[in-house]
Amino acid sequence: MLTDTQRDIIKATVPLLETGGEALTTHFYKLMLSEYPEVRPLFNQAHQSSGAQQRALANGVLQYARHIDRLEALGPLAAQIVNKHVSLQIQPEHYPIVGTCLLRAIREVLGSDLATDEVIAAWGAAYQQLADILIEAEREAYASLAAAPGGWRGGREFRVVRKVPESVEISSFYLEPVDGGSVVDFKAGQYISLRLIVGGQEIRRNYSLSAAANGRGYRISVKREPGGVASNYLHDLVSEGSTLELFPPAGEFTLNDSNRPLVLISGGVGITPTLAMAEAALAGSNRRIIFIHYARSAQVHAFGEQIDSWESHHPQFQRFVVYEEVEAQAPREPDAVGRPTFAQLQQWLPADLDFDAYFLGPKPFMAFIKRTLRELGLPETRARYEFFGPSEALS
Ligand SMILES: Cc1cc2nc3c(=O)[nH]c(=O)nc-3n(C[C@H](O)[C@H](O)[C@H](O)COP(=O)(O)OP(=O)(O)OC[C@H]3O[C@@H](n4cnc5c(N)ncnc54)[C@H](O)[C@@H]3O)c2cc1C
Ligand code: HEM
Repeated sequence: MLTDTQRDIIKATVPLLETGGEALTTHFYKLMLSEYPEVRPLFNQAHQSSGAQQRALANGVLQYARHIDRLEALGPLAAQIVNKHVSLQIQPEHYPIVGTCLLRAIREVLGSDLATDEVIAAWGAAYQQLADILIEAEREAYASLAAAPGGWRGGREFRVVRKVPESVEISSFYLEPVDGGSVVDFKAGQYISLRLIVGGQEIRRNYSLSAAANGRGYRISVKREPGGVASNYLHDLVSEGSTLELFPPAGEFTLNDSNRPLVLISGGVGITPTLAMAEAALAGSNRRIIFIHYARSAQVHAFGEQIDSWESHHPQFQRFVVYEEVEAQAPREPDAVGRPTFAQLQQWLPADLDFDAYFLGPKPFMAFIKRTLRELGLPETRARYEFFGPSEALS
Protein backbone atom coordinates (compact mmCIF):
# COMPACT_ATOMS: atom_id res chain seq x y z
CA MET A 1 0.00 0.00 0.00
CA LEU A 2 1.36 3.42 -0.96
CA THR A 3 1.69 5.98 1.85
CA ASP A 4 0.76 9.66 1.32
CA THR A 5 4.44 10.58 1.42
CA GLN A 6 5.21 8.00 -1.26
CA ARG A 7 2.36 9.37 -3.42
CA ASP A 8 3.88 12.85 -3.11
CA ILE A 9 7.30 11.49 -4.10
CA ILE A 10 5.78 9.84 -7.19
CA LYS A 11 4.03 13.07 -8.20
CA ALA A 12 7.24 15.01 -7.68
CA THR A 13 8.97 12.63 -10.13
CA VAL A 14 6.60 13.54 -13.00
CA PRO A 15 8.84 16.35 -14.39
CA LEU A 16 11.81 13.93 -14.43
CA LEU A 17 9.75 11.41 -16.37
CA GLU A 18 8.56 14.07 -18.80
CA THR A 19 12.10 14.84 -19.79
CA GLY A 20 13.99 11.63 -19.08
CA GLY A 21 11.37 8.88 -19.29
CA GLU A 22 12.60 7.49 -22.58
CA ALA A 23 16.26 7.38 -21.46
CA LEU A 24 15.06 5.50 -18.40
CA THR A 25 13.01 2.95 -20.33
CA THR A 26 15.77 2.50 -22.92
CA HIS A 27 18.19 1.63 -20.13
CA PHE A 28 15.54 -0.56 -18.52
CA TYR A 29 15.05 -2.66 -21.69
CA LYS A 30 18.80 -3.02 -22.19
CA LEU A 31 19.17 -4.33 -18.65
CA MET A 32 16.18 -6.64 -18.82
CA LEU A 33 16.84 -8.14 -22.25
CA SER A 34 20.50 -8.82 -21.48
CA GLU A 35 20.01 -10.23 -17.98
CA TYR A 36 16.71 -12.09 -18.36
CA PRO A 37 16.86 -14.03 -21.65
CA GLU A 38 13.61 -15.81 -20.75
CA VAL A 39 11.57 -12.65 -21.50
CA ARG A 40 13.32 -11.84 -24.82
CA PRO A 41 10.87 -13.80 -27.02
CA LEU A 42 7.99 -11.73 -25.65
CA PHE A 43 9.37 -8.50 -27.09
CA ASN A 44 9.57 -7.50 -30.74
CA GLN A 45 13.15 -6.42 -31.51
CA ALA A 46 11.98 -4.07 -34.28
CA HIS A 47 9.87 -2.15 -31.72
CA GLN A 48 12.94 -1.82 -29.51
CA SER A 49 15.19 -0.54 -32.27
CA SER A 50 12.59 1.99 -33.48
CA GLY A 51 12.20 3.17 -29.86
CA ALA A 52 8.40 2.68 -30.09
CA GLN A 53 8.20 0.25 -27.19
CA GLN A 54 10.41 2.43 -24.95
CA ARG A 55 8.15 5.42 -25.72
CA ALA A 56 5.01 3.38 -25.02
CA LEU A 57 6.32 2.18 -21.67
CA ALA A 58 7.66 5.64 -20.73
CA ASN A 59 4.24 7.09 -21.54
CA GLY A 60 2.57 4.34 -19.48
CA VAL A 61 4.76 5.08 -16.46
CA LEU A 62 4.26 8.84 -16.88
CA GLN A 63 0.47 8.55 -17.11
CA TYR A 64 0.54 6.31 -14.07
CA ALA A 65 2.61 8.78 -12.05
CA ARG A 66 0.28 11.64 -13.13
CA HIS A 67 -2.81 9.70 -12.07
CA ILE A 68 -1.43 8.07 -8.94
CA ASP A 69 -4.30 9.60 -6.92
CA ARG A 70 -7.00 8.43 -9.30
CA LEU A 71 -6.00 5.23 -11.08
CA GLU A 72 -9.33 4.92 -12.87
CA ALA A 73 -8.27 8.02 -14.86
CA LEU A 74 -5.76 5.77 -16.65
CA GLY A 75 -8.91 4.45 -18.36
CA PRO A 76 -8.28 3.35 -21.94
CA LEU A 77 -4.52 3.03 -21.43
CA ALA A 78 -4.98 0.29 -18.81
CA ALA A 79 -7.29 -1.68 -21.13
CA GLN A 80 -4.80 -1.29 -23.98
CA ILE A 81 -1.91 -2.59 -21.85
CA VAL A 82 -3.95 -5.51 -20.50
CA ASN A 83 -5.11 -6.52 -23.98
CA LYS A 84 -1.60 -6.36 -25.42
CA HIS A 85 -0.24 -8.33 -22.47
CA VAL A 86 -2.99 -10.95 -22.74
CA SER A 87 -2.42 -11.34 -26.47
CA LEU A 88 1.28 -12.06 -25.82
CA GLN A 89 0.63 -14.19 -22.72
CA ILE A 90 2.41 -12.06 -20.13
CA GLN A 91 2.28 -13.96 -16.79
CA PRO A 92 2.43 -12.92 -13.09
CA GLU A 93 5.97 -14.34 -12.78
CA HIS A 94 7.20 -11.81 -15.37
CA TYR A 95 6.27 -8.82 -13.18
CA PRO A 96 9.09 -9.10 -10.59
CA ILE A 97 11.61 -9.14 -13.47
CA VAL A 98 10.22 -5.88 -14.86
CA GLY A 99 9.99 -4.39 -11.35
CA THR A 100 13.61 -5.24 -10.47
CA CYS A 101 14.92 -3.84 -13.75
CA LEU A 102 12.78 -0.69 -13.55
CA LEU A 103 14.06 0.15 -10.06
CA ARG A 104 17.65 -0.54 -11.10
CA ALA A 105 17.21 1.66 -14.18
CA ILE A 106 15.75 4.50 -12.06
CA ARG A 107 18.72 4.26 -9.72
CA GLU A 108 21.30 4.10 -12.49
CA VAL A 109 19.80 6.79 -14.77
CA LEU A 110 18.85 9.32 -12.08
CA GLY A 111 21.94 8.73 -9.94
CA SER A 112 22.00 8.42 -6.16
CA ASP A 113 21.41 12.17 -5.56
CA LEU A 114 17.94 12.03 -7.11
CA ALA A 115 17.18 8.33 -6.68
CA THR A 116 17.44 8.29 -2.89
CA ASP A 117 16.34 5.25 -0.89
CA GLU A 118 12.98 6.98 -0.27
CA VAL A 119 12.43 7.57 -3.99
CA ILE A 120 13.30 3.95 -4.80
CA ALA A 121 11.01 2.67 -2.02
CA ALA A 122 8.15 4.88 -3.28
CA TRP A 123 8.60 3.63 -6.86
CA GLY A 124 8.86 0.04 -5.62
CA ALA A 125 5.50 0.40 -3.84
CA ALA A 126 3.93 2.22 -6.80
CA TYR A 127 5.13 -0.42 -9.25
CA GLN A 128 3.69 -3.18 -7.07
CA GLN A 129 0.34 -1.37 -6.90
CA LEU A 130 0.13 -1.13 -10.70
CA ALA A 131 1.47 -4.67 -11.19
CA ASP A 132 -1.25 -6.03 -8.87
CA ILE A 133 -3.95 -4.24 -10.89
CA LEU A 134 -2.61 -5.52 -14.22
CA ILE A 135 -2.00 -9.08 -12.97
CA GLU A 136 -5.57 -9.29 -11.66
CA ALA A 137 -7.11 -7.87 -14.88
CA GLU A 138 -4.98 -10.27 -16.95
CA ARG A 139 -5.91 -13.23 -14.74
CA GLU A 140 -9.61 -12.45 -15.29
CA ALA A 141 -9.11 -12.15 -19.05
CA TYR A 142 -7.22 -15.49 -19.28
CA ALA A 143 -9.90 -17.19 -17.18
CA SER A 144 -12.78 -15.86 -19.27
CA LEU A 145 -11.04 -16.77 -22.56
CA ALA A 146 -10.48 -20.31 -21.25
CA ALA A 147 -14.08 -20.67 -19.99
CA ALA A 148 -15.85 -19.32 -23.12
CA PRO A 149 -17.21 -21.83 -25.67
CA GLY A 150 -14.34 -22.68 -28.03
CA GLY A 151 -11.92 -20.87 -25.73
CA TRP A 152 -8.52 -21.95 -24.54
CA ARG A 153 -5.55 -20.93 -22.38
CA GLY A 154 -2.00 -20.47 -23.69
CA GLY A 155 -1.00 -21.85 -27.08
CA ARG A 156 -3.23 -23.99 -29.34
CA GLU A 157 -2.22 -25.68 -32.60
CA PHE A 158 -4.03 -24.51 -35.74
CA ARG A 159 -3.72 -25.88 -39.27
CA VAL A 160 -3.50 -23.61 -42.30
CA VAL A 161 -6.47 -24.89 -44.30
CA ARG A 162 -6.16 -22.25 -47.05
CA LYS A 163 -3.50 -19.75 -48.03
CA VAL A 164 -4.72 -17.11 -50.48
CA PRO A 165 -2.64 -14.36 -52.12
CA GLU A 166 -4.64 -11.11 -51.82
CA SER A 167 -2.10 -8.85 -53.57
CA VAL A 168 1.59 -9.05 -54.48
CA GLU A 169 2.50 -8.46 -50.83
CA ILE A 170 -0.47 -9.63 -48.70
CA SER A 171 -1.58 -13.24 -48.21
CA SER A 172 -4.45 -14.58 -46.11
CA PHE A 173 -4.12 -17.64 -43.91
CA TYR A 174 -7.31 -19.53 -42.98
CA LEU A 175 -6.67 -21.30 -39.67
CA GLU A 176 -8.62 -24.12 -38.01
CA PRO A 177 -7.75 -25.92 -34.76
CA VAL A 178 -5.89 -29.23 -35.18
CA ASP A 179 -8.02 -30.67 -32.33
CA GLY A 180 -11.16 -30.23 -34.48
CA GLY A 181 -12.94 -28.18 -31.78
CA SER A 182 -14.72 -24.84 -32.13
CA VAL A 183 -13.00 -21.49 -31.60
CA VAL A 184 -13.96 -18.70 -29.25
CA ASP A 185 -15.85 -15.77 -30.81
CA PHE A 186 -14.08 -12.45 -30.96
CA LYS A 187 -15.17 -8.85 -31.42
CA ALA A 188 -14.55 -7.47 -34.89
CA GLY A 189 -11.30 -5.49 -34.70
CA GLN A 190 -9.51 -7.89 -32.32
CA TYR A 191 -6.26 -9.71 -33.05
CA ILE A 192 -4.58 -13.02 -32.21
CA SER A 193 -0.93 -13.72 -31.53
CA LEU A 194 1.28 -16.29 -33.23
CA ARG A 195 4.16 -18.00 -31.46
CA LEU A 196 6.74 -18.97 -34.06
CA ILE A 197 10.18 -20.53 -33.98
CA VAL A 198 12.24 -18.95 -36.75
CA GLY A 199 15.91 -19.89 -37.15
CA GLY A 200 15.81 -21.49 -33.70
CA GLN A 201 14.53 -18.28 -32.04
CA GLU A 202 11.07 -17.95 -30.50
CA ILE A 203 9.08 -14.87 -31.56
CA ARG A 204 5.51 -13.67 -30.98
CA ARG A 205 3.55 -11.44 -33.33
CA ASN A 206 0.04 -9.96 -33.35
CA TYR A 207 -2.24 -10.24 -36.39
CA SER A 208 -5.71 -8.73 -36.69
CA LEU A 209 -8.52 -11.11 -37.52
CA SER A 210 -9.49 -10.12 -41.06
CA ALA A 211 -12.85 -11.91 -41.31
CA ALA A 212 -15.80 -11.91 -38.90
CA ALA A 213 -16.14 -14.63 -36.26
CA ASN A 214 -17.64 -17.93 -37.50
CA GLY A 215 -16.94 -20.31 -34.58
CA ARG A 216 -14.87 -22.71 -36.74
CA GLY A 217 -11.64 -20.86 -37.43
CA TYR A 218 -9.89 -17.56 -38.01
CA ARG A 219 -8.43 -15.66 -40.93
CA ILE A 220 -5.35 -13.46 -40.73
CA SER A 221 -3.88 -11.50 -43.64
CA VAL A 222 -0.18 -10.74 -43.53
CA LYS A 223 1.88 -8.22 -45.45
CA ARG A 224 5.41 -9.24 -46.35
CA GLU A 225 7.68 -6.68 -44.65
CA PRO A 226 11.12 -6.26 -46.24
CA GLY A 227 13.55 -7.85 -43.76
CA GLY A 228 10.68 -8.88 -41.45
CA VAL A 229 11.23 -12.14 -39.57
CA ALA A 230 7.67 -13.40 -39.06
CA SER A 231 6.03 -12.11 -42.23
CA ASN A 232 8.69 -13.57 -44.55
CA TYR A 233 8.56 -16.85 -42.67
CA LEU A 234 4.77 -16.97 -43.08
CA HIS A 235 4.91 -16.06 -46.77
CA ASP A 236 7.80 -18.37 -47.70
CA LEU A 237 7.68 -21.34 -45.34
CA VAL A 238 4.08 -21.69 -44.19
CA SER A 239 1.68 -23.31 -46.63
CA GLU A 240 -1.62 -25.18 -46.65
CA GLY A 241 -1.28 -28.08 -44.18
CA SER A 242 1.33 -26.31 -41.99
CA THR A 243 0.51 -25.82 -38.32
CA LEU A 244 0.85 -22.63 -36.28
CA GLU A 245 0.56 -21.97 -32.54
CA LEU A 246 -2.05 -19.32 -31.65
CA PHE A 247 -2.86 -17.45 -28.46
CA PRO A 248 -6.55 -16.48 -28.05
CA PRO A 249 -8.00 -13.20 -29.42
CA ALA A 250 -7.61 -9.90 -27.56
CA GLY A 251 -7.82 -6.19 -28.31
CA GLU A 252 -9.93 -3.16 -27.45
CA PHE A 253 -10.12 -1.55 -30.94
CA THR A 254 -13.52 -3.10 -31.49
CA LEU A 255 -16.68 -2.30 -33.36
CA ASN A 256 -19.22 -0.50 -31.17
CA ASP A 257 -22.85 -1.42 -30.91
CA SER A 258 -24.59 1.45 -32.65
CA ASN A 259 -26.82 2.25 -35.61
CA ARG A 260 -24.90 5.37 -36.53
CA PRO A 261 -23.22 5.17 -39.95
CA LEU A 262 -19.88 3.39 -39.77
CA VAL A 263 -16.86 4.96 -41.47
CA LEU A 264 -13.88 2.64 -42.00
CA ILE A 265 -10.72 4.26 -43.34
CA SER A 266 -7.58 2.23 -43.98
CA GLY A 267 -4.17 2.54 -45.56
CA GLY A 268 -2.39 -0.57 -46.92
CA VAL A 269 -2.49 -3.63 -44.67
CA GLY A 270 -4.35 -1.51 -42.08
CA ILE A 271 -7.42 -2.77 -43.97
CA THR A 272 -7.44 -6.08 -42.02
CA PRO A 273 -9.50 -5.21 -38.90
CA THR A 274 -11.83 -3.00 -40.98
CA LEU A 275 -12.71 -6.07 -43.11
CA ALA A 276 -13.89 -7.96 -40.02
CA MET A 277 -15.78 -4.85 -38.85
CA ALA A 278 -17.52 -4.38 -42.21
CA GLU A 279 -18.43 -8.07 -42.42
CA ALA A 280 -19.77 -8.13 -38.86
CA ALA A 281 -21.81 -4.94 -39.40
CA LEU A 282 -23.24 -6.23 -42.70
CA ALA A 283 -24.30 -9.49 -41.09
CA GLY A 284 -25.92 -7.98 -38.03
CA SER A 285 -27.65 -4.76 -39.17
CA ASN A 286 -28.59 -2.34 -41.92
CA ARG A 287 -26.03 0.12 -40.62
CA ARG A 288 -24.72 2.37 -43.36
CA ILE A 289 -21.02 1.69 -44.05
CA ILE A 290 -18.60 3.97 -45.84
CA PHE A 291 -15.43 2.04 -46.58
CA ILE A 292 -12.48 4.15 -47.73
CA HIS A 293 -9.22 2.44 -48.65
CA TYR A 294 -5.87 3.91 -49.67
CA ALA A 295 -3.32 1.68 -51.42
CA ARG A 296 0.01 2.53 -53.06
CA SER A 297 -1.15 1.05 -56.40
CA ALA A 298 -3.48 -1.54 -57.96
CA GLN A 299 -0.75 -4.17 -57.60
CA VAL A 300 -0.69 -3.96 -53.83
CA HIS A 301 -4.43 -3.34 -53.46
CA ALA A 302 -5.78 -6.32 -51.51
CA PHE A 303 -9.40 -7.49 -51.13
CA GLY A 304 -10.66 -5.32 -54.05
CA GLU A 305 -13.08 -8.00 -55.24
CA GLN A 306 -14.47 -8.61 -51.77
CA ILE A 307 -15.14 -4.89 -51.30
CA ASP A 308 -16.73 -4.59 -54.77
CA SER A 309 -18.95 -7.57 -54.03
CA TRP A 310 -20.12 -6.02 -50.74
CA GLU A 311 -20.98 -2.85 -52.65
CA SER A 312 -23.00 -4.72 -55.27
CA HIS A 313 -24.91 -6.87 -52.77
CA HIS A 314 -25.57 -4.38 -49.96
CA PRO A 315 -27.19 -1.01 -50.73
CA GLN A 316 -26.04 0.33 -47.34
CA PHE A 317 -22.36 -0.27 -48.28
CA GLN A 318 -20.43 2.35 -50.20
CA ARG A 319 -16.73 2.13 -51.03
CA PHE A 320 -14.04 4.53 -52.22
CA VAL A 321 -10.56 3.46 -53.31
CA VAL A 322 -7.58 5.74 -53.77
CA TYR A 323 -4.24 4.78 -55.34
CA GLU A 324 -1.15 6.80 -54.70
CA GLU A 325 -0.10 6.05 -58.28
CA VAL A 326 -1.75 4.35 -61.26
CA GLU A 327 0.33 1.95 -63.35
CA ALA A 328 -0.23 1.59 -67.10
CA GLN A 329 -2.93 -1.06 -67.72
CA ALA A 330 -4.01 -1.11 -64.10
CA PRO A 331 -6.88 -3.60 -63.74
CA ARG A 332 -9.25 -1.10 -62.11
CA GLU A 333 -9.99 2.61 -61.92
CA PRO A 334 -9.63 4.15 -58.48
CA ASP A 335 -12.00 6.87 -57.22
CA ALA A 336 -9.05 9.21 -56.83
CA VAL A 337 -5.28 9.24 -57.28
CA GLY A 338 -2.62 10.62 -54.96
CA ARG A 339 -2.33 11.11 -51.23
CA PRO A 340 -5.38 11.47 -48.96
CA THR A 341 -6.85 14.97 -48.98
CA PHE A 342 -9.18 16.97 -46.78
CA ALA A 343 -11.50 17.56 -49.76
CA GLN A 344 -11.92 13.82 -50.39
CA LEU A 345 -13.01 13.08 -46.85
CA GLN A 346 -15.23 16.15 -46.74
CA GLN A 347 -16.94 14.97 -49.92
CA TRP A 348 -17.28 11.29 -49.00
CA LEU A 349 -18.27 11.50 -45.33
CA PRO A 350 -21.79 12.40 -44.10
CA ALA A 351 -21.99 16.18 -43.74
CA ASP A 352 -24.01 15.96 -40.52
CA LEU A 353 -20.97 14.26 -38.88
CA ASP A 354 -23.28 11.75 -37.23
CA PHE A 355 -21.02 8.72 -37.69
CA ASP A 356 -18.42 6.54 -35.94
CA ALA A 357 -15.00 6.41 -37.58
CA TYR A 358 -12.36 3.69 -37.27
CA PHE A 359 -9.04 4.14 -39.02
CA LEU A 360 -5.72 2.36 -39.31
CA GLY A 361 -2.62 2.62 -41.47
CA PRO A 362 0.94 3.99 -41.35
CA LYS A 363 1.55 6.59 -38.65
CA PRO A 364 1.67 9.73 -40.90
CA PHE A 365 -1.52 8.52 -42.62
CA MET A 366 -3.29 8.11 -39.27
CA ALA A 367 -2.05 11.51 -38.10
CA PHE A 368 -3.57 13.05 -41.25
CA ILE A 369 -6.91 11.24 -40.86
CA LYS A 370 -7.13 12.15 -37.18
CA ARG A 371 -6.43 15.82 -37.93
CA THR A 372 -8.88 15.91 -40.82
CA LEU A 373 -11.72 14.33 -38.84
CA ARG A 374 -11.08 16.84 -36.07
CA GLU A 375 -11.08 19.76 -38.54
CA LEU A 376 -14.32 18.48 -40.06
CA GLY A 377 -15.78 18.69 -36.55
CA LEU A 378 -16.13 15.02 -35.57
CA PRO A 379 -15.95 14.68 -31.76
CA GLU A 380 -12.72 12.88 -30.71
CA THR A 381 -14.71 10.14 -28.98
CA ARG A 382 -16.20 9.12 -32.35
CA ALA A 383 -12.81 8.60 -34.02
CA ARG A 384 -10.93 5.45 -33.01
CA TYR A 385 -7.64 4.06 -34.25
CA GLU A 386 -5.02 1.45 -33.47
CA PHE A 387 -1.33 0.97 -34.16
CA PHE A 388 0.18 -2.20 -35.65
CA GLY A 389 2.80 -1.91 -32.92
CA PRO A 390 3.13 -0.09 -29.59
CA SER A 391 0.78 2.90 -29.35
CA GLU A 392 2.32 6.27 -30.08
CA ALA A 393 1.29 9.91 -29.94
CA LEU A 394 -0.55 10.95 -33.14
CA SER A 395 0.24 14.59 -33.51
C1 LIG B 1 -2.57 -5.22 -32.88
C2 LIG B 1 -1.73 -5.55 -34.09
C3 LIG B 1 -2.34 -6.06 -35.23
C4 LIG B 1 -1.57 -6.35 -36.36
N1 LIG B 1 -2.20 -6.82 -37.48
C5 LIG B 1 -1.50 -7.07 -38.59
C6 LIG B 1 -2.14 -7.55 -39.77
O1 LIG B 1 -3.34 -7.75 -39.81
N2 LIG B 1 -1.37 -7.81 -40.87
C7 LIG B 1 -0.02 -7.58 -40.87
O2 LIG B 1 0.62 -7.83 -41.90
N3 LIG B 1 0.61 -7.10 -39.77
C8 LIG B 1 -0.10 -6.86 -38.63
N4 LIG B 1 0.55 -6.41 -37.50
C9 LIG B 1 2.02 -6.25 -37.53
C10 LIG B 1 2.68 -7.59 -37.18
O3 LIG B 1 2.47 -7.90 -35.81
C11 LIG B 1 4.19 -7.58 -37.40
O4 LIG B 1 4.74 -6.47 -36.72
C12 LIG B 1 4.55 -7.49 -38.88
O5 LIG B 1 4.08 -8.65 -39.57
C13 LIG B 1 6.07 -7.39 -39.06
O6 LIG B 1 6.66 -8.48 -38.39
P1 LIG B 1 7.96 -9.18 -38.93
O7 LIG B 1 8.40 -10.15 -37.92
O8 LIG B 1 7.77 -9.62 -40.35
O9 LIG B 1 8.94 -7.97 -39.00
P2 LIG B 1 10.06 -7.60 -37.90
O10 LIG B 1 11.12 -8.61 -37.89
O11 LIG B 1 9.37 -7.28 -36.65
O12 LIG B 1 10.62 -6.28 -38.59
C14 LIG B 1 9.79 -5.16 -38.91
C15 LIG B 1 10.62 -4.13 -39.66
O13 LIG B 1 11.66 -3.66 -38.83
C16 LIG B 1 12.92 -3.93 -39.40
N5 LIG B 1 13.80 -4.40 -38.31
C17 LIG B 1 13.71 -5.57 -37.65
N6 LIG B 1 14.66 -5.65 -36.68
C18 LIG B 1 15.35 -4.51 -36.76
C19 LIG B 1 16.46 -4.00 -36.05
N7 LIG B 1 17.00 -4.67 -35.04
N8 LIG B 1 16.91 -2.78 -36.41
C20 LIG B 1 16.33 -2.06 -37.41
N9 LIG B 1 15.28 -2.51 -38.12
C21 LIG B 1 14.79 -3.70 -37.79
C22 LIG B 1 12.68 -5.01 -40.44
O14 LIG B 1 13.60 -4.94 -41.52
C23 LIG B 1 11.30 -4.72 -40.90
O15 LIG B 1 11.26 -3.74 -41.91
C24 LIG B 1 -0.18 -6.12 -36.36
C25 LIG B 1 0.43 -5.64 -35.19
C26 LIG B 1 -0.33 -5.35 -34.08
C27 LIG B 1 0.33 -4.82 -32.84
C1 HEM C 1 3.43 -2.34 -14.29
C2 HEM C 1 4.03 -3.00 -15.26
C3 HEM C 1 3.87 -2.76 -16.74
C4 HEM C 1 3.48 -1.65 -17.45
C5 HEM C 1 3.07 -0.27 -16.91
C6 HEM C 1 3.52 -2.00 -18.85
C7 HEM C 1 3.20 -1.13 -19.88
C8 HEM C 1 3.14 -1.49 -21.21
C9 HEM C 1 2.74 -0.61 -22.28
C10 HEM C 1 2.30 0.85 -22.10
C11 HEM C 1 2.78 -1.31 -23.42
C12 HEM C 1 2.42 -0.81 -24.82
C13 HEM C 1 0.96 -1.18 -25.08
C14 HEM C 1 0.52 -0.79 -26.47
O1 HEM C 1 0.72 0.35 -26.85
O2 HEM C 1 -0.01 -1.62 -27.19
C15 HEM C 1 3.23 -2.64 -23.10
C16 HEM C 1 3.44 -3.63 -24.02
C17 HEM C 1 4.12 -4.78 -23.72
N1 HEM C 1 4.48 -5.23 -22.48
FE1 HEM C 1 4.15 -4.32 -20.72
N2 HEM C 1 3.94 -3.28 -18.97
C18 HEM C 1 4.18 -3.79 -17.72
C19 HEM C 1 4.62 -5.06 -17.40
C20 HEM C 1 5.06 -5.97 -18.34
C21 HEM C 1 5.65 -7.24 -18.03
C22 HEM C 1 5.84 -7.81 -16.63
C23 HEM C 1 6.00 -7.82 -19.21
C24 HEM C 1 6.71 -9.13 -19.43
C25 HEM C 1 7.99 -9.27 -19.19
C26 HEM C 1 5.58 -6.92 -20.27
C27 HEM C 1 5.71 -7.16 -21.61
C28 HEM C 1 5.15 -6.41 -22.62
C29 HEM C 1 5.24 -6.75 -24.03
C30 HEM C 1 5.93 -7.97 -24.61
C31 HEM C 1 4.59 -5.73 -24.73
C32 HEM C 1 4.45 -5.61 -26.25
C33 HEM C 1 5.78 -5.13 -26.79
C34 HEM C 1 5.82 -4.96 -28.29
O3 HEM C 1 4.80 -4.70 -28.94
O4 HEM C 1 6.93 -5.09 -28.79
N3 HEM C 1 5.02 -5.82 -19.71
N4 HEM C 1 3.42 -2.73 -21.74
